[in-house]
Order: sequence, then C-alpha cells, then structure tokens
Amino acid sequence: MKGQLEGKVAFIAGAASGIGRGIALRFSREGARLALADIQENLLEELSAQLKKNGTEARTYRLDISKPRETQQVVDQIMLDFGALHIFVNTAGVVQSNNFLDVTEEEWDRVIDINQKGTAFATQAVARAMIQLIPDEVKRAGKAERSYGKIVNFTSISGRRGRAYQLAYAASKAAVISITQSAALAFAPYNINVNAIAPSVVLTPMWDENNRLKQKAFGVDAQKTSEEFIARIPLKRPGTVDDMAAAALFLCSSESDYITGQTLNVDGGFEMN
Ligand SMILES: NC(=O)c1ccc[n+]([C@@H]2O[C@H](COP(=O)([O-])OP(=O)(O)OC[C@H]3O[C@@H](n4cnc5c(N)ncnc54)[C@H](O)[C@@H]3O)[C@@H](O)[C@H]2O)c1
Repeated sequence: MKGQLEGKVAFIAGAASGIGRGIALRFSREGARLALADIQENLLEELSAQLKKNGTEARTYRLDISKPRETQQVVDQIMLDFGALHIFVNTAGVVQSNNFLDVTEEEWDRVIDINQKGTAFATQAVARAMIQLIPDEVKRAGKAERSYGKIVNFTSISGRRGRAYQLAYAASKAAVISITQSAALAFAPYNINVNAIAPSVVLTPMWDENNRLKQKAFGVDAQKTSEEFIARIPLKRPGTVDDMAAAALFLCSSESDYITGQTLNVDGGFEMN
C-alpha cells in the first residue's frame, strides 16, 4: 500500500531524540525521503542507519538551530542533495524550569535563541527554498495550489499561558505560536501550510530534564511531580511519541490542505483553546 508521504522530501530538525525521532520513524513508514538534522550527531547517525536498513532514503545534517546562518547552509545542502523540499517539522528545542527570580540572562538567551529565534529563521530558510521550487509559470498563473509545502512547528501548552517556573520557556513557546501565524499569512499565497503542535507531557529525555530541573530548583521529588502533572491531564495518561507523530502526519499530509496558522493541542485535553 502507498504511504501518505510517498516520495515527499521531509526535513526534520531535532530528529535525534524523542518526538522528532518518532516522527522520522513514522514518516519513513509513509514513504518520505528524510533529511534529519540535530546537534547530537551520534544519535542522528544511529537513527539514520536504522532507517536505511529499512530501505528509507535518509541523510543527516549537523545543525545548531540557534544559528540562522547554519540553518540556511543546511537547507541549501538539502536542496542540493534531494533537489526538493516539501515538508519541514521542527522539534528542536530545550526546556527551562526554575524560579522566576533566579533566571539569568544566559539562560534566557539560550532558550530564546534555540526555541524562538531558531524557529523563526528555520521557517524563513525553509519557506525561501519551498518558494524557489515553485516554477515561475505556476507563480505567474497564480496556480500555487499545484505546489506542496507543509511546515509544522512544535510549541507547548506552556505557550498557551504563562508559567511561574518557566519564564523563558513559556515565552519562547508563545512566540512559536505567533511565528506560526505570521508564517501562515506570509506563505499562504504560495500554498504553504504552516501549523503548530502543542503537547502537554510526552515521556522523552526533555520531560525527564524538566522534572530534574524542578527538583533542583524547588526540592520537589522528580518522579512525584511528574505523576502529579500527569494526573491533571483529562485523559489520565501522558502523550506518546506516536500520538505526536500521528498529528504531525496529519498536518504534513494532503488531509489538512485547508488548515493553516493553527496550533493543535495534542495534550489529552489539558488546554481547550
Ligand atoms: N516532551 C514533552 O513533554 C514536551 C511537551 C511540550 C512540548 N514539547 C516540545 O516538543 C519538542 C520536542 O521535544 P522532545 O520531548 O522530543 O525533546 P528531546 O530533548 O527528546 O528532543 C529535542 C531535540 O532537540 C535537539 N536540540 C536541542 N538544541 C538544539 C539545537 N540548538 N540545534 C538543533 N537541535 C537541538 C536535541 O538534541 C534533541 O534531539 C520540543 O520543542 C519541546 O519543547 C515537548
């Protein structure tokens, strides 16, 4: 049976771990050709070897997404390697959890540079490449609907409202929602859909790090604080990497062609707007 992304070139940033890795595995089963980027090169190579064994075309790119020039170079290289770019999913990110009064300028800059600046300029570089791919006669005839461009950013329920203990993280994730809306408006004339996914809890290295940071800052028990948070989710379980991949697949497939500028809560009902 044909996959939903057969032959599509999908660039996944943050693919080495957690949600990004799960999306790479799912998209490979749907027939996508994969450009995988991350700052953790070793994990990326392991994933790529596994995908290639299963017959997927996969290439890896070392990327620090906080550096717009590096992102542009990676996008340029993907265009040379694959000759196309149809899909971009950005899961690269870092978390921060401590007392509002203790946040340093260095912490703020690190989180904002990766989560916020990284998302803005990666979206820009990818959209530039997607627009270049649209033949001039198609652009002139105003028939961009024949092109295919899907961008999915990862925000968080922490981007939906402030968090006393996540000054920088929540601000950066609120910005991702805004960047997604701005990009959706800017690139609608080219038929590029730009949407975002807001998870609550997914049991990945980032969730563990979040609980470790809370333990360090507030002296709470990491395991207990995790369990208490999950108990507040209406569906009474954490999300899985597969839950996230299913939502990303929907937003990267033709099934969502009439959806743009939206942030989809994939969060077990934690937030409702
Ligand atoms: N896990 C959760 O509970 C949860 C909840 C809400 C939102 N999210 C969001 O989902 C996304 C994926 O998170 P995850 O849980 O898979 O985390 P993760 O830590 O498992 O994966 C994040 C990936 O981003 C990469 N990365 C970090 N800094 C980078 C940089 N400067 N350049 C390139 N890559 C970089 C890491 O190496 C890692 O592979 C993040 O944006 C996160 O904020 C996660």
